[in-house]
Amino acid sequence: MQKKHVAVLMGGWSSEREVSLSSGAGVIKALEELGHSVTPIDVKGSLPDLVAHLVSAKLDVIFNALHGVGGEDGVIQGVLEMMKIPYTHSGVAASAIAMNKVLSRQIFKNHGIPVPLDKVITFDDLKANHPMAFPYVVKPIGEGSSRGVSIIYNEDDYKKTLDQWTFGDQILVEKYIPGREIHVSILNGKAIGAVEIKVENGYYDYEAKYTPGRAEHLMPAPLTPDALQEVLKLSEKSYHALDCRSACRADFRYDDTIENPTFYLLEVNTQPGMTPTSLVPETVGYYGMSFNQLVQDLIDNARCDIKTGS
Ligand SMILES: Nc1ncnc2c1ncn2[C@@H]1O[C@H](COP(=O)(O)OP(=O)(O)O)[C@@H](O)[C@H]1O
Ligand SMILES: [Mg+2]
Repeated sequence: MQKKHVAVLMGGWSSEREVSLSSGAGVIKALEELGHSVTPIDVKGSLPDLVAHLVSAKLDVIFNALHGVGGEDGVIQGVLEMMKIPYTHSGVAASAIAMNKVLSRQIFKNHGIPVPLDKVITFDDLKANHPMAFPYVVKPIGEGSSRGVSIIYNEDDYKKTLDQWTFGDQILVEKYIPGREIHVSILNGKAIGAVEIKVENGYYDYEAKYTPGRAEHLMPAPLTPDALQEVLKLSEKSYHALDCRSACRADFRYDDTIENPTFYLLEVNTQPGMTPTSLVPETVGYYGMSFNQLVQDLIDNARCDIKTGS
């Protein structure tokens, strides 16, 4: 195996900074164990400083361990394309579209992938009226890690959400999908496996995602063979619909309270977590791929899309 000089981009400016630092720490350890030379970079300064750092470091490849705004939405991917440094995970367009829940929804709908009934409204609209009957979900267009996601069961939840909203003027509102939470890991276009998440308050919030023991992970998800095939197929379809690359995770709700149980795609994550409680490492691990092998696979598939220019 060829040893490489890898920079790990981590931290960043988003509300998922702490998550990214945790992902980055695990990735650095893996890269060192694999014998690569590693330069960790906490991305929190100015862009010119970052670019100067990347130029002087003389890198072979970037491991992008950023999550959320700036790191998962095509912004850093565009910088790395311009610098011609191969980087892990999806490219500019897939990252930008996947991170935007309104744009990605339009593509999922065009491909016949079921998504919850939704509406895009402004904060003033939300203040003026309930956008749909209880229970419904209010979420930002471009965040992650459940930041800003609220489930509105009653007037108290509604008032609390209005008081605490800091995520911009555009809001995605969805019908609450009862039932189960199923997350599928996809690697290089192939759905590897599904895990079911069980949480006490019924919603996979920030605490449940990152506090060990707070959410139960049922691995593999206890689905019938037909249901499992269906969700794996939908995951691969959504990955290809957005033209994703490398590792992704598709988040579904599975409404099995109705006569024809249905999977509803919530989103595709192009920078899935690599933390100790994260689902992609756990899922690929269940099927025999170690964390270190996953990290190696990610850097083996790192690339730039733009081929022309000097
Ligand atoms: N329409 C919905 N019905 C039921 N639960 C939902 C719905 N939308 C979101 N949730 C809950 O909120 C979590 C986070 O929502 P998601 O859309 O995946 O946003 P994020 O990008 O922050 O992960 C989900 O994993 C799920 O537990
Ligand atoms: Mg999610």
